[in-house]
Amino acid sequence: MLLSVALLAACGGAPAPAPAPAPAPAPVAAPAPPPVAAAPAAPAGPYVADEFAAKAYEAAKAAKSDGPNAKSGDAAAIAAGKAVYAKCTACHGETGMADTPTALALPQHPANFHDKGRWDASSPGVKFWIVKNGIQGTGMAPLGLSDDEAWQVLAYVESEFVGK
Ligand code: HEC
Repeated sequence: MLLSVALLAACGGAPAPAPAPAPAPAPVAAPAPPPVAAAPAAPAGPYVADEFAAKAYEAAKAAKSDGPNAKSGDAAAIAAGKAVYAKCTACHGETGMADTPTALALPQHPANFHDKGRWDASSPGVKFWIVKNGIQGTGMAPLGLSDDEAWQVLAYVESEFVGK
């Protein structure tokens, strides 16, 4: 007993401990997210016309980008378009049939390019506008293609898939 008192005295006393910081407020538990409703199964098979595409057609016409594809049937443009089409395969498929897992998972099923009636239902200029600007509300996003690339990829799709 005496010894410890002496030791404490010899040390000059320990510095007073800093006051403990105020305890942090207990974290508020985040409310559980509402259950996500399962998306309805995407219909397999041919595309059915819908309001998103219709809006895109209206926008394209309003933008007066309703011209023909000057690269249609041009072998060099088609070859260049094939390379551009690598950006489209996830959704429209290597085969143009839009039967990839990504395509089938999209609530709005992408276009099957083999469907000639569907292809012909919009002008080349409208499709050009869609490729440049996307279709709002669907997976079809603007992909940052140049005008040339957009016409090229459309020439490729036309020659490779449409009506085949
Ligand atoms: C992330 C998925 C996705 C990618 C990538 C994608 N598309 Fe689409 N595309 C869609 C969806 C969804 C639609 C809307 C449904 C529809 O109109 O076919 C669409 C529609 C289109 C249409 C309009 C079809 C029509 O007849 O109305 C064209 C043309 C088109 N895409 C071309 C392309 C091209 C070319 C590329 C690559 C440069 C591409 N898409 C990349 C999902 C995609």
